[in-house]
Amino acid sequence: MPNYPHNINSKLPNVKTTIFTTVGRMAQKYNAINLSQGFPNFEPDQRLLDLVCKALNGGHNQYAPMAGLPKLREIIAEKITVLHNRVYNPESEITITVGASQAIFPAITAFVDKGDEVIVFKPAYDCYEPAIEVNGGIPIFIQLKGEGFKIDWEDFRVKITPKTKMVIINTPHNPSGTILSKKDMLELQKILKGTKILVISDEVYEHIVFDGQEHQSACRFDDLASRSFICASFGKTFHVTGWKVGYCAAPVELMHEFRKTHQFNVFCVDHPVQHALSEYLENPDHYLTLNHFYQEKRDFFINALKHSRFKILPSQGTYFQLLGYSNITDEADVDFAKRLIIEHKLASIPISVFNVENKDDRILRFCFAKTEETLAKATEILNLI
Ligand SMILES: Cc1ncc(COP(=O)(O)O)c(C=O)c1O
Repeated sequence: MPNYPHNINSKLPNVKTTIFTTVGRMAQKYNAINLSQGFPNFEPDQRLLDLVCKALNGGHNQYAPMAGLPKLREIIAEKITVLHNRVYNPESEITITVGASQAIFPAITAFVDKGDEVIVFKPAYDCYEPAIEVNGGIPIFIQLKGEGFKIDWEDFRVKITPKTKMVIINTPHNPSGTILSKKDMLELQKILKGTKILVISDEVYEHIVFDGQEHQSACRFDDLASRSFICASFGKTFHVTGWKVGYCAAPVELMHEFRKTHQFNVFCVDHPVQHALSEYLENPDHYLTLNHFYQEKRDFFINALKHSRFKILPSQGTYFQLLGYSNITDEADVDFAKRLIIEHKLASIPISVFNVENKDDRILRFCFAKTEETLAKATEILNLI
């Protein structure tokens, strides 16, 4: 640490180097195939890139409107109505954000006060906890149960107190690849009914659901929709994680407060990309074919591992596949993940780091948003272990 002239009292003393940084650095150092971080290693649709170039050359290079390009908000509202039968007013209930992360952060910041409790299901994506803590909130963790990473709704009911301000759900779920069923959503709705508890519904993998199942957006359920921020990411949907553009949809009273923090956080989001996305979204096939696209990748990956010693856990959505390895070794998952990089040149993410008290079930997460060539090389390695 540099020697600063002031005593620094960190607001986030528990934030350390993330597992993604650690594993990413090791993968580079050992020249490993990297299935750790969740991003595609292939290019997005050329048409989308051309639309961005068109917008760049078309004079859309100054600030966009604060809430986002009206045309983009309108087409998002239409998409939500068609898919989930929920009407959001694009003028007042949808905001374009810097990826889903910058939808989640202002929603937490606008509502969570010092001492407020926010329920988070673990394992969880890593941006929720610091956003709660930096605002003085207290994360209350609930461990998902069993191989299906199920929510124990009774446990959830017990964890609700007069201080509970918010609950964060994520479906399809990173890192487990599971989805919340309609029954789960109805249970959540029933428990929250009559309370003032808000919901952040992280739905960044909304268009990556497999085997004919449907994505159960929180906005499909009247009472849940009335208290929810739906957070989404074009990065995941259009293979452009580096663009960091997403959106948030919420009822007008919630969105009004949300925009107060959004406005003084980023004010607005990349203007030419918003133009491109608004045109690209005119063809629903661009997102409706994604389920199939990733299901093929998942199936390629798991079929190639049929005879391996790894246990293939069900992946119902997202672009992640969990593999259990307790048949192979009883090494801690962090150690095993490191050894895979050093000795076998393959990088993955150990799940324990996202669990309550780092519970270690000997499971690693592999990202299959990769070319067949990369997936084939990775499975060759895994089959030899
Ligand atoms: C569950 C989940 N939520 C949010 C995000 C962040 O999305 P974005 O890159 O659009 O900010 C990610 C990215 O990996 C994620 O997996």
